[in-house]
Amino acid sequence: MPTAAQERLIRPARNVYGSLRLPGDKSISHRYAMLGAFAEGTSRFTNFSTGADCASTLACMEALGAKVVRNGPSVEISGVADHTTPADRPLDCGNSGSTMRMLSGLLAAQEGRFTLIGDASLSRRPMERIRKPLESMGARLSLTDGHAPIEIEGATLTPVDYAMPVPSAQVKTCILLAGLQTSGTTTVREAVRTRDHSELALRAFGAQVTRTIDSVSITGPQRLHAIDAAVPGDISSAAFFLCAAALFPESNLVFDQLGLNPTRAGLLDVLTALGAQIAVLNLEEQNAELVGTVRVSAPPEGLRSTSIAGALAAQLIDELPVLAAIGPYTSGGIRIRDARELRVKESDRIALVAKNLRAMGAEVEEFEDGLDVPGGQTLHGATIDSGGDHRIAMAFSVAALRAEGDTLIQGAESAAISFPEFFDLLNLVAER
Ligand code: S3P
Repeated sequence: MPTAAQERLIRPARNVYGSLRLPGDKSISHRYAMLGAFAEGTSRFTNFSTGADCASTLACMEALGAKVVRNGPSVEISGVADHTTPADRPLDCGNSGSTMRMLSGLLAAQEGRFTLIGDASLSRRPMERIRKPLESMGARLSLTDGHAPIEIEGATLTPVDYAMPVPSAQVKTCILLAGLQTSGTTTVREAVRTRDHSELALRAFGAQVTRTIDSVSITGPQRLHAIDAAVPGDISSAAFFLCAAALFPESNLVFDQLGLNPTRAGLLDVLTALGAQIAVLNLEEQNAELVGTVRVSAPPEGLRSTSIAGALAAQLIDELPVLAAIGPYTSGGIRIRDARELRVKESDRIALVAKNLRAMGAEVEEFEDGLDVPGGQTLHGATIDSGGDHRIAMAFSVAALRAEGDTLIQGAESAAISFPEFFDLLNLVAER
C-alpha cells in the first residue's frame, strides 16, 4: 500500500558506535514465504523481513490459498501442498521485482489464470528475461510491452537447459520453481554465481537440487515439506551501517546473527580492501545459510580506494549505491564497472547516484555500466532525490553523516520497502 511521501533530515555525525541485530534478509524471506506457501504443512519463521516487499509476497501467497498468520517478525504459513487457488483478482507485487519474477515461475506450471501487477516502478522493469526461458518450457504468459502486468495461463511444462544471458538470481529462481513442478531435469547455467538462497531453501524444504560450478539443476516433480527457520539478519541492510562505520576513525559496530552467505558477503571483502577492519565471529549454519557476528571499525588513516567490476559487481549489485555514495570520502576513489543492471533496478541507480553526489558538491563521472567517484572530496548537505528508491534514500543518509551541514532526504518513506527500521537504527548508532 502506498505510504505518504516523507522527508528526513540527516545531521552530520561525529561517530558511529553500537551493536545491532537486523531484521531478516529480504531475499531469504521471499523464498521462505513462497516455498512455505507452496509446501505441505505449516512452516514457522522467525526474524522474517519487516520490509514491504516481503509483505507483498506474503499477500500474494495468501491470495493463492496459503494461510498466513503474522505476528511482527514471526510468520506462520500453512501451505497449499502444490496446488494454488487461482486468485479472483490481480496479484499485487507492489515494488518487488523478486516477487513478480519468482512467482511467475511458480505459477506458470499451476492450473488457472493469473495476473501479476506492480507499482509504477515495477511496471517499468524488464520482464522479457523471464518470458523467454518460461516460454521455452511451454509456459503461456504475456507481458505488456515487455513489462508488467503479466498474464499467465498455467500449463504443463517441459524441462529446459537455459544459459542466463544476464546474471540474475530472480530469473534463476523463476526457472527453478517452474522446474520443480516439471517432469524431467531443468538446468540453469550462470556465468557468475548469483545469490544461491533458492538452492539452499529448496533443499531445506526437502527438494533435491544439484549444482556444478556454473549450473543448478532440479528434477521434477518434487514435493516440498514445511520447515521451521530463523531468517538471518539482512547483510544488504547491514551494508548501510557497515559503510557508515567505515567513515569514522573511532567507530565500532557489531552485528549479531547476520547472514553471511558467501554469495552475498562480497561487501566485507570490498570494505577490507578499502582498509576497514572486519572481524567475523561465531559462524554457524542455519538451514544451510551461514550466520555470524560481524564487527567493523574504520582505519584510523581513512579509507583507501577500490575498483569493483566483473563478477563482483553482479554479486554486490544491491550494495553498489552505498559504496558509490561513500566514494568521495575515500582517499583514492571508487570505480564501478560491469554494473549496467543498476539502471533497471527500482530506479536508474547509476543516474540517481551521480545526480545526488553532484547535489552534494561531488565530482563524479557516469558510464553506461558504472561510475567513477574520485576520492578526497568534501560533501555538503543537500536535498536528495531518492526517486522513491529505498537503497538510494539509505545510501545518501549514510553519505550525509560525514557531510558539512544537514541533508534532506526526499522520498525517505521508501526505506520501508526493505528496511522500515533504518532511520531509527541510524539515530541509535550515529553519535552527534
Ligand atoms: C534478488 C536478486 C537481485 C537483487 C534483488 C534481490 C533476489 O536481483 O538485486 O534485490 O532476491 O534474488 P537480480 O537477481 O535480478 O539481479
